Order: sequence, then C-alpha cells, then structure tokens
Amino acid sequence: MQVQKAIQKRLSIRRYADASIPDEHLDILIKALQLAASGNNYQNWEFVFVKNPDVKQRLVPACSNQRFIKDCAYFVAGVADPKLKWHMVDITIALTQFALQAVELGYGTCWIGAFDEAQVKRVLKIPEDKKVVICMTFGMPTGKHVARGRKAVEEFIYLNQFGSRSKLSGA
Ligand SMILES: Cc1cc2nc3c(=O)[nH]c(=O)nc-3n(C[C@H](O)[C@H](O)[C@H](O)COP(=O)(O)O)c2cc1C
Repeated sequence: MQVQKAIQKRLSIRRYADASIPDEHLDILIKALQLAASGNNYQNWEFVFVKNPDVKQRLVPACSNQRFIKDCAYFVAGVADPKLKWHMVDITIALTQFALQAVELGYGTCWIGAFDEAQVKRVLKIPEDKKVVICMTFGMPTGKHVARGRKAVEEFIYLNQFGSRSKLSGA
C-alpha cells in the first residue's frame, strides 16, 4: 500500500473485532515508532502497550468512560519526559507513523486524548515525573466506519503570507 492510500484510508476506529495481532505485525508497528523523527534525535518516548483485559477495563473510567477501549487489541499510552522540549511533538509523530502503518496492515486506531492523566498513570504504574502525552487504541476494525468531513483546502492553505488564498496546486 502506498503512503497516500494509507493516509486516505485512515479514520478513527471505535469498534474492534476480537482478534489477536501476530508478532510479525507487532514488530513492523513497533519499527514505525522506532524510526520516527524526533527533536535532536532524543527519541523522548516510551510506550506502554496494554493487552491485559483487566487493565484495559480499568482504563475505561480513566479515559472518560470510552467503553471501546476494553475491546481494542492494545491500548497504547505515549509517555515522555516533559522536561525535554518537543516531547509532545515527538510522541505525536511516532504514533502518527504507527497509525498509518496499522492501516497498511489492515488494522485501525483511535487517538485517545480524553483521559485523566493521574488515573492512567496509576493504572499503568507510570512514574510521577513522566507525562502521558496521548494514547491510542489499536486493533482489527469491525462494522462500518464513516469518514468525517474536512475543511476545504482554501480555508487553511496560504501562499507566501498568512491569509493569502492564492491557489497553490500545480506548484
Ligand atoms: C489529540 C486527539 C485526541 C483525540 N481524542 C479522542 C478521544 O479521546 N476519543 C475518541 O473517540 N476520539 C478521539 N480523537 C479522534 C478524533 O475525534 C478524530 O480524529 C476526528 O474526529 C477526525 O476523525 P477521523 O480520525 O475519523 O478522521 C482524538 C484525536 C486527536 C488528534
């Protein structure tokens, strides 16, 4: 699958089949995290992959009662050292690569930003001085998922100066 196709296919998956993930796919997905760009190449990221059903169940109330969390194959918590600049960006780049790689392998993901950090830290035993930047569910999609709309390109692409809506295409 080309990157362009994976970008077009990706959408938030909130319904998951009860399917396990083969090790060779996990290896590919973890490589997508490892190879991400990062500020100063600090690779300021650690990821807690949660497979245990009891732990996933305990994450539901920690994540605004989003019940689909218990159905995903893995809940992934993106953890960083908040003292380093770009920690928010680095984690996001890595998980974006993960999400696109997941599409190529036939899986789906959903970003999870609605969580209580203290609760997630408690459930996953994450040290106090670390920050849970963002989380993501991951697994085999089931059912129908509908793509959400997007702003028109003219609303957010400018040429040469902010607000200049001259056409960029063909450049
Ligand atoms: C930073 C961030 C936090 C998000 N948090 C949640 C969340 O807690 N729960 C959820 O169901 N979706 C969450 N989403 C998914 C967005 O709702 C979704 O990406 C957006 O509606 C566009 O839909 P799409 O991903 O299907 O293209 C989050 C997305 C981002 C980027």
